[in-house]
Amino acid sequence: MGTWALKGHICQSRDPQQIEITENGYLIVENGLSKGVFPTLPEQYRGLPVADFGDRLIIPGMTDLHVHAPQFSFRGLGMDMELLDWLNTYAFPEEAKYRDLEYANRAYGMFAQRLKRSVTTRAVIFGTIHLPATELLMRIMDRTGLKTYVGKVNMDRNSPDYLREFDAEKSLRDTEEWIIRNQCRFDNTKPILTPRFVPSCSDALMEGLGKLREKYALPVQSHLSENLGEVRWVKELCPYAAFYGDAYDRWGLFGGAGACVMAHCVHSTDEELERMRANGVYVAHSPESNMNLASGVAPVRKYLDLGLHVGLATDLAAGSHESLLRAMMHAIQASKLRWRLLDDTLKPLTVDEVFYLATLGGGSFFGKVGCFRPGYELDAVILDDQDLPHPQRLDVRARLERCVYLADDRNVYAKFVAGERIL
Ligand code: GUN
Ligand code: FE
Repeated sequence: MGTWALKGHICQSRDPQQIEITENGYLIVENGLSKGVFPTLPEQYRGLPVADFGDRLIIPGMTDLHVHAPQFSFRGLGMDMELLDWLNTYAFPEEAKYRDLEYANRAYGMFAQRLKRSVTTRAVIFGTIHLPATELLMRIMDRTGLKTYVGKVNMDRNSPDYLREFDAEKSLRDTEEWIIRNQCRFDNTKPILTPRFVPSCSDALMEGLGKLREKYALPVQSHLSENLGEVRWVKELCPYAAFYGDAYDRWGLFGGAGACVMAHCVHSTDEELERMRANGVYVAHSPESNMNLASGVAPVRKYLDLGLHVGLATDLAAGSHESLLRAMMHAIQASKLRWRLLDDTLKPLTVDEVFYLATLGGGSFFGKVGCFRPGYELDAVILDDQDLPHPQRLDVRARLERCVYLADDRNVYAKFVAGERIL
């Protein structure tokens, strides 16, 4: 891959507090890893090939910590219900269609194209219960050049006949077969264990998934404390659990030994948050989803103050849009309503904070990803904001802020993932 440089207005986060900007800076890349950002080209790198992006912005690629690929097809539809009715009415009937590989190929192809064009460079993705369609999704995602985790979903209870695995044993057999076949099959796409959520997984299934997690050293993704009715239901289903997350932790599916990301965490109790902190569980904050399904607004500032790992997520199709720029905007807006209407002790999120969440906050789920400090994988998005005219000359900081609110995939001029240009 060699050594080369990118030149442009470089923006990155070190911490949630402040975006660092280097105007007309150089980002040195060696074998796909960053060697750091410099205001001028250091002497030892003179003569290096430079990809000069001129007046454009260079930002770290963004990580979508939670998105449902099979739900891309009904984004923007069916926003008139809360979680449990929404699942039964819209999500489950649509996901059942992925039994048909021809349909899966068409729908997943559209999803992958959209994601490739977006500011996203990494994503943690739900498939469906179907093994063939999930393998197909992995192949399609691998070809995009994006780095992804893809999960075959587990569901063996409280699900309609047309979208339920026969029993825990069959679900576990399919899952292990899927892991063995796909763990080392793709360059860019890896498997992740995906119990849908506690209500759709029996104790026997959870126990078996915990064993598979340990045997194959896999990460885990699921949903947690999203909706009040769901939280009550989990209490009934798992009387042994001290809180919702404890029903995952009991089976070793809640961080600690392995990586784990939980979507939503809108209604997590202090006890649950403390366990998440101790176990290093990631929060995938999906503000648009939480608004559309009227789930609530997660107190993200509190999570940051507690030192939890937090990133952003689109959660298609409860979230309607695949863009993490939209998710950043919604995270700010939701936090303002929460502050005004519910709890004025938690100040709204800032642009700097949501930029951190979308880049380094979620990126760290993939390792050294999400900024341009030396040793980090070179995931970069080049934003061209020429088509967002302004009557004055704006500084880079203001241009970046406007991009959060106004830019879309038409403003993505180029994209690099782990040092490879994919757009
Ligand atoms: N909880 C369980 N399944 C789902 C899903 O598909 N979307 C959301 N938002 N929450 C869930
Ligand atoms: Fe979800």
